[in-house]
This record gives sequence, structure tokens and C-alpha cells, in this order.
Amino acid sequence: MLRTKIAGIGYYVPEKVVTNHDLAKVMDTTDEWIQERTGIVERRYGKKHKETTTSMAARASEVAIKRAGISKDEIDFIIFATLSPDYYFPGCGVLLQRELGITNTAAGALDIRNQCSGFVYGLSVADQFIRTGMYKNILLVGSEMHSMGLDFSTRGRNVTVIFGDGAGAMVLQPTQEDKGVLATSLHSDGTYAEKLAFINPGAHGGYHAAHMDEAQDFGYSDAEYGEMFINEHMIENGQIFPYMEGQFVFKMAVQKFPEVILETLEKAGLKKEDIDMLIPHQANLRISQFVQRRMGLRDDQVWNNIQKFGNTTAASVPIALCEAYEAGAVKDGDIVCLAAFGSGFTWAGAVIRW
Ligand code: UT7
Repeated sequence: MLRTKIAGIGYYVPEKVVTNHDLAKVMDTTDEWIQERTGIVERRYGKKHKETTTSMAARASEVAIKRAGISKDEIDFIIFATLSPDYYFPGCGVLLQRELGITNTAAGALDIRNQCSGFVYGLSVADQFIRTGMYKNILLVGSEMHSMGLDFSTRGRNVTVIFGDGAGAMVLQPTQEDKGVLATSLHSDGTYAEKLAFINPGAHGGYHAAHMDEAQDFGYSDAEYGEMFINEHMIENGQIFPYMEGQFVFKMAVQKFPEVILETLEKAGLKKEDIDMLIPHQANLRISQFVQRRMGLRDDQVWNNIQKFGNTTAASVPIALCEAYEAGAVKDGDIVCLAAFGSGFTWAGAVIRW
């Protein structure tokens, strides 16, 4: 039976370290508050005008391609997961193709917009393409340059302190061996779309206002259609930044993580006792610790790096997995479980035999 194996993995984080103390200089927050509520000590920010979501993805991809032992022109499909694309359109998939100098136009490029679960969704999509024999070398990346789109005033502190920049990548190939992706599970529930969202600029024109907890006056004038996408009123009122109802999201996350892990293990014919390494999306250290307790896992069976990188959304799972691999914490034959939950809401799981 054809399966999807991880032939190469890589990650990249920018050099610039931003500590909680640095953030406390620009907004009303403290190192104590951030560490106690999230576990985060510091995060990385990309170099403005020098690095982007795409350029960081390229650095991570170069490592993954090298480890896979292929040339970049052998890549026949690119899957790019991000919520912080360089452009509104076109997507980062084609920008990455250009950045890597891939001249093979037979390679397709697909962008995935599933926020925190984007990478695990992407892995499931890649798995289908590989198992049907359609592609032989899929480059899957998750990359985020959050620092370009956060509210650094006190108004945005509940969101801004959490996020960091970075990228992770994998090269995926077919294998006849009994290893690689054993099962994936994908879920969504759009009921709570606005609980964690980055709404403007967008083509909604206020249509979904009834779903927002706080009534938002978007300042539209019926005659001025062009201004419905983005206008000065939105900018003045901070409606151009991510919004999160943190406690609501937290409660959903601690419910959905264990559910999707158990579901995906069952599909793979495994039990929670079979997990060698759990790589949870790095949403909040408190969420990961809750999930660890629910799964009955030891500290050395769960990889957390949110303390130093913050929440890198679509990049967090591949960065954490790559770090665990480089540290020798993931070995041949290990059962590795990936799980993510986030905006949408969407959540997903994957079980891999390394
Ligand atoms: O990755 C995608 C999925 N995302 C998540 O899973 C995130 C889930 N949620 C969380 O991680 C937490 O809800 C947060 C870390 C975002 C927030 O923690 P919280 O304990 O839920 O805080 P809160 O939003 O309920 O706010 C509690 C208080 C408020 O003050 P008052 O109204 O009680 O006076 C906030 O204004 O903490 C205040 N606060 C802050 N204080 C200092 C909010 N952010 C900050 C801050 N520094 N950065």
C-alpha cells in the first residue's frame, strides 16, 4: 500500500528575539502576566522589509529539500498554509515557487487558509495526492509573519503578546514501507467564525455583523463600494487587527485537542498508550499541559517550544516537529501525533509512524 513519508523537514525562525519585557515597554502588560497565562517568555520577529512569510518559508524549505536529497525542480506540488500572506492575492504558494527559483511550471501551487490547523490540513491534502499516485515530491509549508499585522497598543495586548514569526516545511514522498502518515482527521465548525478572526480588509461589507459580539460600525457609505473593503474608519478604530475572545477559544481548544487525537489514533488502529511523541499546535502552554494530562503523557512525550517562539499559527506544528527531530526526540518507528485547533473553528489531527 502506498503511504506518504516525510522525506525531509526544516524550520526557520528570524534572528530578532522580542521578550515579554520588550512588549511591556510599548503596551500595558507584564512578563508575569504573559508567562502565567501562556507560558511564553519570548518570540521572534522577522526583519521588516527584508523578510516576509514567503522568504521565511523559503529558508525552511531549503533545509527540508536538502534533507530529502532532491533538487528543487523535482518538487511537483507546493502547499502553503498561512494566515499572514505577503499579498491578499496571489497566494504565497506561487511566491515561494519564485523565491526558491523553481522553474518547473508543471508544479502546482495551492494556498491553504486554515490558520492554526493549516499545516495539519495541508498534510492531509498532500497525503491524498501522494497515495493516489498524483505527486511524488510535495513541498508543504506553514509560515507566518504575524509581527507585520498586530496591534502594538494596549488595545491589542490579549492577542499581540501571544504571536511570533517563523516557518516550517516538509518534503513528502510516496513509500511502500509501513511508515509515514497512518491517519488524518479534519474538522470545522463555522458557528464561531468571528471568535478568532482578522476581518478587515475583506469583502463582507458588514454582512456578518450579527455574528459579532460587539456591534461594529464599519463606517460604510452605500455609495462608496471601494471603501467597504478598507477605509479610514476601520483603521482609526483598530478594526484591521486580529480579534480573539480568548477564554471562549481556550475552552473549545481543550475539548477539541483530546477528541481529535483519540479519533485519529483510533483510525490508525492505535491507542493513546502508543503515542511516543505528541506535537500539539503551540497555542498556549496551559492548553498543551491540559492535553498532556488528559492523554496521560509524560513530559518527554510532548514537545513544547511556545516558551521561546510564541504561537506561530500554521508554522508551529512543523517547527516543533523539526526541533524534536533535530534533538533526537523523534526516532525511526516512533508513533508521532500532530494536533491543532484554531480560528474557523477548524481542528485537525495526524498520526505518523516516523
Ligand atoms: O492559536 C489559536 C488558538 N488560540 C488559542 O488557543 C488562545 C486561547 N486563549 C488564551 O490563550 C487565553 O485566553 C489568552 C492568553 C489569550 C488570554 O488569557 P485569559 O486568561 O483568557 O485573559 P482574558 O482575555 O480573559 O483577560 C483577563 C484580564 C483582562 O483584564 P480585566 O478585564 O480582568 O481587568 C484583560 O484586559 O487580563 C487582561 N489582559 C492582559 N493583562 C496584561 C489581557 N491581555 C493582557 C496582557 N497583559 N497581555
